[in-house]
Amino acid sequence: MNSQTGDGALPSIRDYYSATQLRSDRWSALREATEGLLRTGAESRQGKKLLKTAADLFDSLQPIEAYWAFPGGASFAHMRRLLENGNYEDLQTSVRRVSRALTSGAYRRRTIPLTSGEADNEDYEDEASLSPEARALGRPYFEVLIVDEVNEQQERFLRHSLQRMARPEDPFVYEAVVVPSLEDALIGILFNHNVQAVVVRPGLALKSDNDLPILNQYLKWVGDDEEVDSIQPYEYGPEACRLIAKIRPELDAYLITDRSAEDIAGLDLGRCRRVFYNQEDFLELHLNILRGVGRRYKTPFFTALKEYSKQPTGVFHAMPISRGKSISRSHWIQDMGAFYGPNIFLAETSATSGGLDSLLEPRGPIKEAQDMAARAFGSKHTYFATNGTSTCNKIVVQALVRPGDIVLVDRDCHKSHHYGMVLAGANVVYMDSYPLHQYSMYGAVPLSEIKHHLLKLRAEGKLDRVRMVLLTNCTFDGVVYNVQRVMEECLAIKKDLVFLWDEAWFAFARFEPTYRQRTAMSTANTLREKLKEPATAAAWEKQQAELDGASEEVWLTTRLVPPPDARVRAYATQSTHKTLTSLRQGSMIHVNDQDFKGEVEQAFHEAFMTHTSTSPNYQIIASLDVGRRQVELEGFEFVQRQVESAMAIRRAVSTHPLLEKYFKVLTVADLIPETYRATESKEYYNPKQGWTDKHTMWAEDEFVLDPTRITLAVGGTGWDGDTFKTKILMDKYGIQINKTSRNTVLFMTNIGTTRSSVAYLIEVLVEIANELDDLLDDASKMERRSFQNRVSALVEHVPPLPDFSCFHPAFRAEGNTPEGDIRTAYFLAYDEDNCDYLDLDDRLTERLEKGEELVSTSFIIPYPPGFPILVPGQVISPEILKFMRALDVSEIHGYRADLGLRVFTKEALDALVNKTSA
Ligand SMILES: Cc1ncc(COP(=O)(O)O)c(C=O)c1O
Repeated sequence: MNSQTGDGALPSIRDYYSATQLRSDRWSALREATEGLLRTGAESRQGKKLLKTAADLFDSLQPIEAYWAFPGGASFAHMRRLLENGNYEDLQTSVRRVSRALTSGAYRRRTIPLTSGEADNEDYEDEASLSPEARALGRPYFEVLIVDEVNEQQERFLRHSLQRMARPEDPFVYEAVVVPSLEDALIGILFNHNVQAVVVRPGLALKSDNDLPILNQYLKWVGDDEEVDSIQPYEYGPEACRLIAKIRPELDAYLITDRSAEDIAGLDLGRCRRVFYNQEDFLELHLNILRGVGRRYKTPFFTALKEYSKQPTGVFHAMPISRGKSISRSHWIQDMGAFYGPNIFLAETSATSGGLDSLLEPRGPIKEAQDMAARAFGSKHTYFATNGTSTCNKIVVQALVRPGDIVLVDRDCHKSHHYGMVLAGANVVYMDSYPLHQYSMYGAVPLSEIKHHLLKLRAEGKLDRVRMVLLTNCTFDGVVYNVQRVMEECLAIKKDLVFLWDEAWFAFARFEPTYRQRTAMSTANTLREKLKEPATAAAWEKQQAELDGASEEVWLTTRLVPPPDARVRAYATQSTHKTLTSLRQGSMIHVNDQDFKGEVEQAFHEAFMTHTSTSPNYQIIASLDVGRRQVELEGFEFVQRQVESAMAIRRAVSTHPLLEKYFKVLTVADLIPETYRATESKEYYNPKQGWTDKHTMWAEDEFVLDPTRITLAVGGTGWDGDTFKTKILMDKYGIQINKTSRNTVLFMTNIGTTRSSVAYLIEVLVEIANELDDLLDDASKMERRSFQNRVSALVEHVPPLPDFSCFHPAFRAEGNTPEGDIRTAYFLAYDEDNCDYLDLDDRLTERLEKGEELVSTSFIIPYPPGFPILVPGQVISPEILKFMRALDVSEIHGYRADLGLRVFTKEALDALVNKTSA
């Protein structure tokens, strides 16, 4: 976003999604205005205008700066005085230095002199230009938020008292910011991502005087006005600690109180790390603050590996690459050594002793690293995996599902689950996600569909065999479940159900409060607490009386309450490498299962052994450890920035007149039908109304859209999704994307996405649109018609997505429920004599339409959409065949165009049916 509009006016605050961007742009605008003032003086017409702009900018920055330690209240007031006194030269120097230091982050490394008398070598200001080694040598910087209503002098005293405690041997440096109230503390922790610790002092007030809407939006987390007003003054401190724990659980809170220890002992203080009774013990506070941050900074395995790599060792073991020996002595592979540098080889070893550990039986630094990850991600146990979530999924399924157990699975889940079902011998109920025919995509499985299957299984007396519900959250396209609601309502039907949430794409969600509430681990913790509350038991009893003898329809439409003795059993698998810092294949399994210890632990161990290599890659494990450190210290900042980048793309595409002609960013309403939205919000950004309040949507709707995943409809360009991805974005502009559908492409932002990469993407889209405009300008009538035909083929004639048909009776259990034994079908196909191949031609369509039952032997997975449209044992419906024939993708796994579709012979199926009935 430009810092100023063409006529010199500032963009309205309404245009900003985040206060962080607003702050950064306001400083750039102030810098431009003060530079202009220095050039023109204040007397000319232009000068007067600039003077007013600068004064306005100071006004708008004033309430914002109150939450940041740099440049700080005193320096800010000083700069303002320079403006009022007409000292434009000094003003321009100070503002330039502040603005540069904010952009480059230089204030984190050194004191920035703000007066022109003090020399400042600005060449050193650019953090990005420092070598990684130089950056690693510096001490990390953070800010401490002190909450206390004090006057200016007392504030100075507080800040200086802490500052005086700093010692050269301290591992970190920090600055303090003082805010007066509980509400300001919340704005502070949600706005200032530098804050790592909060010190709540007894003098804090309740309300904030700040009335800037872009900041006050953060107060939604506090509760409604009535709730806030009912908090008693003696509760302000403890309440602040509780709210900090709820909103940013990774932060350290310290409560300083003058109440008696006995009074405090019985209170819920969130995750408050220490209570201090002596307000003036600054050394103790300082040491605690450093220790608290140090706890998160610690990386047991990464550190152990670094230490190990420094030790001289003779290798009489496997791995000639260890310590680079096979490379340094080589005549032919020296370039590998040069490319990777020495450390990676020094850190390569197959040893599990000497300070290292074994992933298969961790007792040392890997165990410690996993325990720290459990803390960070809110689980009870966390396990690292070095071969991706594909493996994590198989481990969890094998650990929990016994042959014959019924598992409810979303059909468009990742293929690792389908293979997991084969391995475990599960009876699978495939659930359909709601389709988005227009975009050739699926949404997610509606709760009514899940409940419907559970109720049917209950009616058939099979509920005791139902073991697990398996769902993908969020989906590839960014559809996010209401995890709490799903778990509560399913537990109301079966109280010991296990949930496996595939969060391959959702590891980052833990570190932003809006997202966090829809993650498996956070929900499991919330539910554990909720089930203990007497109100839950009362609500359940009341509802049971109402539901006595009620029809399935009533159960379906009632918001079900779980019984108080329901068991919370949640597992989440996350590809850390997809959304956070980790080397490829670094994944984690998070466990929050009340019955894990007694029932599952041993089986989990066996399943882990089944799928884990005995030579797991240490670099991946170390990167998981470091990735955990990062999210505990700056996950919030990075996720916030990622959301901002994504919102910037959404806004830019929906407001650019040229882009609108050929592209559309799919909105919440495009991807989530109205029936699944309780709120009326249709999009994140609307040119007329500005930004939508994400908070309410995420609290209430059945499904919400992860804004960081941007689906762009490209049918209007006349190119299908795949061509647009490879021929245009990749080959022409070097932009990589992952998923496409027939007429869409998916842009995924991540925690590394920068404002300049966003700008580049928009630039490229504008260039593509310009070229299309030119092309159509010069096109003949016929060419234009051909373009229109291509567009309408892509936009209007999209083959409808087929639902799951059914398993053939040979693989289906007794009764009226749809579960199928996928494993028997899978292995039946190992014998070629049981299989036949059929061409996908009109004759096959005729055979199906005549009612012949043809059954797939294998998984058929077209890319896109990337999930099986047929699984072993599934009956091929005319709709599936039609969809396959209409698919114009080149990649269909499990299908050989030279042979045709592989199906079971009638004899094989009959033999199986006869065997089963005998
Ligand atoms: C939903 C889902 N689950 C699991 C996986 C597998 O993850 P990994 O690549 O870490 O093995 C993927 C991969 O794309 C996925 O999309």
